[in-house]
Amino acid sequence: MSKTINNSRRQFLQHSVLGAAMAAFPGLLPANTGKIKTSATAGFHADVEIEFTAQAAQVAILNSGPATQVQKFIANLRKGPPTTLTQLPGNYLGPILTFQQSQKVRIFFNNHLHEPSIIHWHGLHVPQRSDGHPMYSIDSGEQFVYEFEVLNRAGTSFYHSHSHNLTAEQVYRGLAGLIVVNDSDEAKLELPGGEYDLPLVIQDRSFDSQNQLQYLHAMPERIMGFLGDTVLVNGKPNAEFAVKSRAYRFRAANGSNSRIYKLGWEDGTPLTAIGTDAGLLAKPETRPYIMLAPGERVDLWLDFSDRKIGSQLTLYSLPYSGVMPGMYDRMHKDGGGMGMMHNRLPQGGKFPIAVFKISEKVSDSPKLPKQLVPIQRLTERDVDNAANPLPIAISMQHMKPLLNGKSFAMDRVMDFEKVALGSIKKIKIFHDHDSADQHDGMGMMGGMRHGAKEHNGKSGDHKMGGMGGMGGMGGGMMMEMAHPIHLHGQQYQILSRNTAKVKTADYATVKEGFIDSGWKDTVLVMPGETVEIVKPFQDYKGLFLYHCHNLEHEDLGMMRQFYIG
Ligand code: C2O
Ligand code: CU
Repeated sequence: MSKTINNSRRQFLQHSVLGAAMAAFPGLLPANTGKIKTSATAGFHADVEIEFTAQAAQVAILNSGPATQVQKFIANLRKGPPTTLTQLPGNYLGPILTFQQSQKVRIFFNNHLHEPSIIHWHGLHVPQRSDGHPMYSIDSGEQFVYEFEVLNRAGTSFYHSHSHNLTAEQVYRGLAGLIVVNDSDEAKLELPGGEYDLPLVIQDRSFDSQNQLQYLHAMPERIMGFLGDTVLVNGKPNAEFAVKSRAYRFRAANGSNSRIYKLGWEDGTPLTAIGTDAGLLAKPETRPYIMLAPGERVDLWLDFSDRKIGSQLTLYSLPYSGVMPGMYDRMHKDGGGMGMMHNRLPQGGKFPIAVFKISEKVSDSPKLPKQLVPIQRLTERDVDNAANPLPIAISMQHMKPLLNGKSFAMDRVMDFEKVALGSIKKIKIFHDHDSADQHDGMGMMGGMRHGAKEHNGKSGDHKMGGMGGMGGMGGGMMMEMAHPIHLHGQQYQILSRNTAKVKTADYATVKEGFIDSGWKDTVLVMPGETVEIVKPFQDYKGLFLYHCHNLEHEDLGMMRQFYIG
């Protein structure tokens, strides 16, 4: 498989159908000859230089038994402040990268795996060439050099491998890590820092009896997305934090392939967020629970100052419903129907994530600021296409989840995916499950074709006939599920959520957990829901991906790209 990918990548580099468009900006392609650029640019004076290597490793993830074979990013600091890298010893996660706004960063990436790989800096707004687009995947033994200036405001981001068709499994096997960006607005706030500013990377995994990671390749599990049996926090099971009686900042990132968490305290204490995805909020938001879909981050203000020493508090993923296709819910209810879901924690089930033990009394707790950072709210007045939003339509064909009716192709951009540099666009993300395509897709599921042809309902009408083979499940709804939609490049803002077609009872279990007031790069779109966003396309020309961050969906082709030019 890796050969195929690699060949198609080479072909893309050599015979891009974008050639014409690209000819105007030759710098966008790695090199005219199709060779991967491997050297640093002389005129780029880096403040920070890091050497990254992806390699196989053995890590003791579980508390007993054999070590686990993983893939791991190893990093060494060649130049820059020593605080740039925070190593997590004995971990499959790569080190935490800490950048300052406006730093110039150069990263040398060496691929020592036996398959292609490339790193994407999820949340950072960087030039195309340094964004980890899968066309830049490098082979075993090759090197890729990234160069970018940190334009982002203070916030939490996330790096991971992004080699098409290999992303999900490489991330699963360990190729990911956290990115922290600091800036001067944030410094004025005197938020909890140092030992009080901690990562909370949440992932789920499955282990066999030899402690080895179990992944999945088979349908139909793959289309539901990988769901594991063990929750890991910062790369370890049964996470426990010994905390002092004061406020902390926890940078929560959902690094799972497809699991969606509903973060909430066991005792019903509300949760306070001070940031989402790659930026601080204008002011803190307090919610009964917070939804965190794959690729999303939330900066939590966790205040233990009123807690008794010796007490403990558990952070849970609380129960919710409605993000999975009807088929999943049904099979899950039936206790595993088609042999799926054996030990897996069900999507939407309740389980603990981490225990916080209040272990020391202190009285130095900072106060939660009332205001955080200024955010210019983007509205319809800021866009040049208010009446004609760019579509991101979610659908399914032949068991492949699609965007705008298409699968990912390295060398394809549709007309409406070409966006003028400097413009600010309204984008409408919606489910489009009623097209004829959808019916073919269901036909592929074997014995379920019955009734499909009747589904000529108007767009958006999901109440369609039952499926013969599966006993009355709604047709159009059958494969409709929640998708976390991620756009590369600059952060965006959520303009609106239209919930007219959602299932109210399910939606009620998640709706208070969406924090839409700040900057986002990944948004969870529930079944039936339409989300409108406003996204600036500034600073950099080139190809920037948009895709579902359910990594199984991404690898199945639920990815497209904008050409900014
Ligand atoms: Cu975190 Cu294109 O992805
Ligand atoms: Cu998806």
